[in-house]
Amino acid sequence: MARELIVAIDGPSASGKSSAGTLVARRLGYLYVESGAFYRALGWKVRACGVDPADDAALQKLSETTVIDVVRTSNGAKILVDQRDVTDDLRTPEMSRIAAQIASNPLVREPMLKIQRAMANTGGVVMEGRDIGTVVFPQADVKFYLDADPGVRGKRRYQELAAKGLPVDLQTTIEEIMARDRKDMNRTVAPLRKADDAIAIDSTGLTLDEVVDRMVVAVERRRTAITR
Ligand code: DC
Repeated sequence: MARELIVAIDGPSASGKSSAGTLVARRLGYLYVESGAFYRALGWKVRACGVDPADDAALQKLSETTVIDVVRTSNGAKILVDQRDVTDDLRTPEMSRIAAQIASNPLVREPMLKIQRAMANTGGVVMEGRDIGTVVFPQADVKFYLDADPGVRGKRRYQELAAKGLPVDLQTTIEEIMARDRKDMNRTVAPLRKADDAIAIDSTGLTLDEVVDRMVVAVERRRTAITR
């Protein structure tokens, strides 16, 4: 029987990783995991407890005691923090900022690494994030690095937030995305970078379907090569 693959997707904020990853996983019949949701979920807890995100001791305690679950439903994944559904609260600009801040802390990344690796131990997974192809699964079967022009990414994120009724401004959204990219790329632990063997896709001039088609073709090619 064919072995099921591990597909890693990395890239900066709003580069289309979640939208493309979800559709690629659906077409392959694979599990889709958005690793950023774990950092956002812990960020939610940090805020709910009034903890200073720069307080190492408090952060370590929270990351060891907080129970984060991903529950599949017919409407997509629900993220539970200590059994409370926080899915709808995780995509705000404030949560993005806190998540990027705590994600640069090795005390937070270590437990996350274990959770993420455990979720893919049988293969058949599409996981997206910032360090999936470089740190979480350096042996992933297929790696992608998605990117797009910052203006295009900012517009996508702006439209996503505006559709949720959040009070956002396009220029501020672009600036926040670029600030977060700098933070993700310049941190010492697991910085965002393209793995040498990742397939780079710039989605600036592509539709979502075109991106997904390219990715599925690459995975199918690899699947065939492995089973031969
Ligand atoms: O993908 P996202 O926007 O939901 O991620 C939120 C933050 O979490 C992002 O700024 C950096 C961090 N993150 C990370 O450091 N490593 C990952 N694998 C995924 C996310």
